[in-house]
Amino acid sequence: TKAIALVVAAGSGLRVGGEIPKQFLTLAGKPLLRYCLETFLSHPRVAGVRVVINPTYQALYETATTGLDLLPPVHGGQTRQESVRLGLESLADLSPHLVLIHDAARPFLDAATIDRTLDTLATHPAALVAVPVVDTLKRAAGSFSGLTVDRNGLWRAQTPQGFHYNTILSAHHAVMGRDAEMTDDAGVAEAAGIDVALVLGHEDNFKITTPADLARAERMLNPKMS
Ligand code: C5P
Repeated sequence: TKAIALVVAAGSGLRVGGEIPKQFLTLAGKPLLRYCLETFLSHPRVAGVRVVINPTYQALYETATTGLDLLPPVHGGQTRQESVRLGLESLADLSPHLVLIHDAARPFLDAATIDRTLDTLATHPAALVAVPVVDTLKRAAGSFSGLTVDRNGLWRAQTPQGFHYNTILSAHHAVMGRDAEMTDDAGVAEAAGIDVALVLGHEDNFKITTPADLARAERMLNPKMS
């Protein structure tokens, strides 16, 4: 079964610096948003791609996606959770069986990760791409290292996060208004009592948040420049 990819890009994303939301910044000559869209569009198991945008940045969206065969964009909300819910609701006429929810700020999504996620959805209602924590973790006590937190069994969540469409739509409706508690869709599914299977992701699939992240992404694409 093919999936629909829902890419959330409705955030203001200004922590990376500048006036333009990070998803529209140019990364090695191409808008950041465009990287993941091209990956989804060229994937044989993805039937359609829709982006959730902030209407303020409609023109930046148009420029960033010129020539791409996308479903029409829809408008997001005040929080990531609200943007995802609005995006999911907009897919109702297509009634997809599977949906892959992805952050526009992760340009280095690879096809194999999409495949592993979709393979997992053949037997599970929810699949979370994540990587195991390798650093030693500390719980700070003020400016001191208060306590080492056991990293055994800890994972860092990434996107895409894949779901059976009806399952995640119901879960979003069940937790509406509790946005502060959940920063991703696996969290929404967990709160609704759904078992979320872990899918091994890739260290390169990091989220661009700070100027240092943007510089790292540039170095990955242009190793000779660094
Ligand atoms: O800010 P953060 O990096 O956590 O945002 C994750 C993703 O959620 C980004 O792609 C951002 O554009 C999106 N988002 C959204 N609507 C919001 C807030 C964030 O689509 N209201």
